[in-house]
Formats: sequence, structure tokens, C-alpha cells
Amino acid sequence: MNPTSTPLAYQRGFGNEFASEAVPGALPQGRNSPQHAPLNLYPELLSGTAFTAPRAANRRSWLYRRQPSVVAGRYAAYAQAHWCTGAGRDAVLAPEPLRWNPFPIEAADCDFVDGIRTLCANGDAQAQTGIGVHIYLANRSMRRRALVNADGEMLIVPQLGRLRIVTEMGALEVGPGEIALLPRGVVFKVELQGDDGQEGPSRGYLCENYGAHFRLPELGPIGSNGLANPRDFQAPVAAFDAEATGSFELVKKFAGRLWRAPLRGSPFNVVAWHGNLAPLKYDTANFMTIGSISFDHPDPSIFTVLTSPSDTPGTANCDFVIFPPRWLVMEDTFRPPWYHRNVMSEFMGLVHGEYDAKPEGFKPGGASLHNSMVPHGPDADAFERASSAALAPQKLDDTLAFMFESRYALVPTDYALTSPQLDARYADCWAGLDDRFAC
Ligand SMILES: [Fe+2]
Repeated sequence: MNPTSTPLAYQRGFGNEFASEAVPGALPQGRNSPQHAPLNLYPELLSGTAFTAPRAANRRSWLYRRQPSVVAGRYAAYAQAHWCTGAGRDAVLAPEPLRWNPFPIEAADCDFVDGIRTLCANGDAQAQTGIGVHIYLANRSMRRRALVNADGEMLIVPQLGRLRIVTEMGALEVGPGEIALLPRGVVFKVELQGDDGQEGPSRGYLCENYGAHFRLPELGPIGSNGLANPRDFQAPVAAFDAEATGSFELVKKFAGRLWRAPLRGSPFNVVAWHGNLAPLKYDTANFMTIGSISFDHPDPSIFTVLTSPSDTPGTANCDFVIFPPRWLVMEDTFRPPWYHRNVMSEFMGLVHGEYDAKPEGFKPGGASLHNSMVPHGPDADAFERASSAALAPQKLDDTLAFMFESRYALVPTDYALTSPQLDARYADCWAGLDDRFAC
């Protein structure tokens, strides 16, 4: 039952009522908070939405644990200068396209907490709006320390190396091509798993969502199936540390700052839980992709996996969008993404393969940022090729790009703007697009 060694099992679904107990009889039946809970466990409610949120959006779970979370030492400030929050910085933001080459994993001993580097952010965590966009660069597991984020949920997109994410509610494993979604307030730690089973270097992208929790998008005329299907999301089963004592460190992100507190024992002490607030994993290979079978290129919103709505209908705090392997069959159509300017701001990353609009300069482990109304589109070479290509059915294979798209402009950090990985020549990729007007 140790979450770090048990072969993993999962429960399936998105937002449904899960129930799991690591010891038979640990879960109370017929009520949530009996006078005396089974096995002398403490019931604890974790509310991911306001008590009064509408039913369709309400998320909460009951945890039955050996000690309640309130048992912790005093908090002290924890220095991690690279994890930044919100747009409240004095950055002077030029309206230019930005792109970064792959971020190298530093040689220094570094776990997931210390390896987070904020690339850009918007909104305000305390106002529960906006997102932080980070990359993580780690080369060792979190051992006797755990992380909890009160500022937002964490959407993890591994790019290099597998992760075993041990949470209060059980463990998940994800690798490149998969994602993990960790609710705000759930304690977790990240263990690295190289291909050889040893701890290995690990890199990936991270969306810290300060706003409304990610949910599945409405399907409208698509119907009752398609895109990311609920049954393909997987939640962990209950598991707890068999070792009850021994010091642990809890790192907590709260109101834009990091704190640390000593714990007398492992925070992974939940023996049973039930509810609809849960860590989830999802394999993007299960995404049912929709595309044109006649002509033209649909809006990329057809690739939305998850959406965090804002208070304006149809205008997301953040959409998580993927560009997975797919067939292109459109006739008389310029098949790569069109040139455009978008009121929404677009951060892109590449997990593996090539992105069809930028086959050369956009690399796995790198990133690009096209803020509100910043023009972008295929580079000159991609335009040339796509304009003259024979339009036979074409499989875009071995590719997985993604986008965090937000209604709020994303403010880059000093780390991102001064990084040697910043591609100073990015805008030159469009320089060859000459005026070809012929009347
Ligand atoms: Fe775009």
C-alpha cells in the first residue's frame, strides 16, 4: 500500500464520483463525517470550488486520513526565485513574437520544486484569474518533501522522462504524450523515472491555473462523443505511506510566494477517499481529433482538450489545446495554420516531432509566445512548400504540439527574456514572404 512502490491501478472518468479505500472498511458508508470514523481515521473535506458553486461545476472530496492536514509545523519563507506569479511585474512588453530553443537541464542537483522556471504569466493568483506558464527542469526525485499549491491547479505536460506523481489520493504515472492534472490544494511529490528505471533528467511544461478549474469543453454540434472522452481520464486509487513517522518537509505555494514547514510524518496518509475532486491523468493518444474533410482549415479550438472558463462565455481563462497526429485531406486548401492575429494570447510547446507551421526552428522542449494581436503563421519555407504541394491525403505523424491559450496577455519573466535560449532571429523566419501581388 506504499504509494511509491505499488503497481498502479486507476479509476476512470472526469468529474464523476470516485471512491477508493486502501484498507477494506476505511470508507464510511451512508455519511461523510460519522461521530467515530472507521479505523480511527480523521475525516477531512477538500473543497475545490465554493460550497455554493453550481452542481455541474462543484468539486469536492472527502479524505480519511491518519492525521489531519492541520498538523504541521510553522511556515518559513522558501527561496525559489524562478517561480513567479501573475502579471504584476514591471516588464516592458514589446508586441513581438517570441520563441525559445529547448531549455537545457542544468547539471546541478535539482528536484521538481527547485526546477520550475516561469516563462510567462498573466492575471493574479489572489484574484483567481490567469495562469502561470512554466517549464520544469529536474534531475532528481523529491524525496522526503512534498508540494502543495494553494494558488492554482497544476497541468503537467511531460516532454522528457516519465514522472511518478505521488499524491494524497494515490499515485499516477505519466510520460511524454500524457498529461497530469493536479487540483489546487492537493499535496503531491514528483519522482523521476528514466527509461532504464533509474532517476533520469526530466523536462516538461506546466500550466499553473489560478482561475476556474479545467473541465471538458462543450461539444455543441459535434455531439455526445469526441475530442477528449471522459472515460479516458484516470484517477488514482487510495494509497498511503506505510511509514507513519519520520520528518517530512512541506513546500506550500500561497499568494504568490513559497513557504516551507516541517511535518512530523508523511503527508501521504490518506487511507480512503471519495468525491469528484481528484488528480487525473490522460493519454493524448486517446484524443479523437476532428478536422475538415472538405476544404479550409478549421479553427484550432477543435483541438481543445480542457478549458478553464472565465466570466465571459466562450472566452477562456485558459484553453489547453493539442495538435496530435492526424490526417490532412482538405482539397484546394492551404493546409498549415493560416496567418492570423488573435485577441487571445498563445503559448506553444512541442513534446515531440515537428510542428507543421515551423518545421525548422521550433524544437521539442522549446516554446513560443504570440501575445494578443501579435501576427504569426507559417514561416516562409513552410508557406512555399504548402502552396505548391500536391494535395494528396497526408498523415501528420509523430508530432505533438500544444498550446496554452488565454484571454489575458502573457508577461514574460526576466528569466525568459534574458535566457540564452531566446531566439533573437525568430522574426526573420517570415522575412522571405515577399510581396507577390500580380495584377
Ligand atoms: Fe495562432
